[in-house]
Amino acid sequence: MEKSEIEEQKEEEDQIVNPWEVTAKDGGKIDYDKLIDKFGCQRLEESLISRVERLTSRPPHVFLRRGVFFAHRDFNEILDAYERGKKFYLYTGRGPSSEALHLGHLIPFMFTKYLQDAFKVPLVIQLTDDEKCMWKNLSVEESQRLARENAKDIIACGFDITKTFIFSDFDYVGGAFYKNMVKVAKCVTFNKVVGIFGFTAEDHIGKISFPPVQAVPSFPSSFPHLFPGKDDLRCLIPCAIDQDPYFRMTRDVAPRIGYQKPALIESSFFPALQGETGKMSASDPNSAIYVTDSAKVIKNKVNKYAFSGGQESIEKHRKYGANLEVDIPIKYLGFFLEDDAELEHMQKEYAAGRMLTGEVKKRLIEVLTEIVERHCRARAAVTDEMVDAFMAIRPLPNMFD
Ligand code: TYM
Repeated sequence: MEKSEIEEQKEEEDQIVNPWEVTAKDGGKIDYDKLIDKFGCQRLEESLISRVERLTSRPPHVFLRRGVFFAHRDFNEILDAYERGKKFYLYTGRGPSSEALHLGHLIPFMFTKYLQDAFKVPLVIQLTDDEKCMWKNLSVEESQRLARENAKDIIACGFDITKTFIFSDFDYVGGAFYKNMVKVAKCVTFNKVVGIFGFTAEDHIGKISFPPVQAVPSFPSSFPHLFPGKDDLRCLIPCAIDQDPYFRMTRDVAPRIGYQKPALIESSFFPALQGETGKMSASDPNSAIYVTDSAKVIKNKVNKYAFSGGQESIEKHRKYGANLEVDIPIKYLGFFLEDDAELEHMQKEYAAGRMLTGEVKKRLIEVLTEIVERHCRARAAVTDEMVDAFMAIRPLPNMFD
C-alpha cells in the first residue's frame, strides 16, 4: 500500500498539520508558507483584503488586517460572484470534545460572525458529536450533551438567529444530507482516505467512514429546508488550516457528483502559552486560556506560563530588548488587541527594551480578561430555549437580507 501523506511527513521529520495533530519541526514554529505549498492553497493577498473592505463598506476584521486568516481556496471567486450580486452561504463547525472552548476555538467563530454581518449571508454550524464520540471514546449521550453545551458558547459569539442553523450530526444526519454522504463516499477509496488522513488498518471503520459527514454541509442540497432549488449556491468555509484535509477531499469529489467546490478561508493557530510550536493541547489545561477561566486564573496563567521573548535580567533587557519572534504575550495581543496604533507602539518599545515583559503581560491580562468576561456574560444569557431555536429545522425566510 502507498505511504500516507502523514507517514511521509513523519519520515521527513517535517511539521505535521492535520485535524488531530499540529506539531512543528524540531520544536520550532509552524512554517505556514510551507503549508500553503504542501496543501496547495493560496495566500490571502492584500488585494483580496482591500476588496473585502470595498464590497462590505466596513473596515476589514482585525484577523484579516493582521494576517491571522492567511490562506484561502477560491475566496476570489466568492468575491467575484458577490460583486455580480450573487450571495453565498457560510459553513463552519466544532467537534464537541470538551465542556469549555479555549480562545483558539473562538477564533473561527468570531471571524464567521464578522463575515455573516459584513456580507449578510446565512450560516450553518455543524456540531460533530459523532466524530468526537468515535475519536475521544465518549458515550453517545455525553457527546450530545457536550454538543449542546458548546452550542451555548457558539451562540454567545452573537450569531443572528434569523440567518443561522446549528445542527448536531446525531440529530440531523438523514434524508438529503445522508444521500449526499453516500454520493461522496462512493467516490472515495480506502486508499484515498489513508493518504489524506493517515488511517491505518487498525482504526475502526467508524473513523474511516466519517469524512463524508464533514464534507457534505459544503453542498446546499444537504439543507433542503434552507436552500431548496438553490443547488448552485456557493459555500465559504472559515476554519483553521488543520481542517483543510477534509475539504481537499470534498473539493476533489464535488465536480464528480455535479456539485460546486466549497471555497475556504483559513487561519493560522492561536498558539499555546508555552510557545508557538503548535496549537493548544486539550490534555494540558495550562497550555491555553479557556472561556471559563476566572480573572485570577488568566492572570496566573499569563504570568506563570506565557513564554517571554524578554531578556533574563532588566539590565540585559534594556540593552538588547525583547525578541518579538518568540514572545507569546505580543503574539496574543496581535490576535486580540484591536488598536493598531497601541499594538505598534508596544512592539516598538518592547523590542527596544524600553518596555518590560511585566508591562506587556499586564496589558495582555487586561485584554484577555475583558474578552473572557464579555463572553461569560453573553453565554449566561443563552437559555436552553435559545439553543432549541437555533437548532430547529426550519426555513430562514430573510437569510439573504
Ligand atoms: P474543533 O472543535 O477541533 O475546532 C473548532 C474550530 O476551531 C479551530 N481551531 C483553532 N483555530 C485557531 N487556533 C487554534 N489553536 C485552534 N484550534 C482549533 C478549528 O480549525 C475549527 O475551525 N472536525 C471539526 C468540526 C467541524 C468543522 C467543520 C470545523 C465540522 N465541520 C467545518 C471547521 C469547518 C473539529 O473537530 O473542530
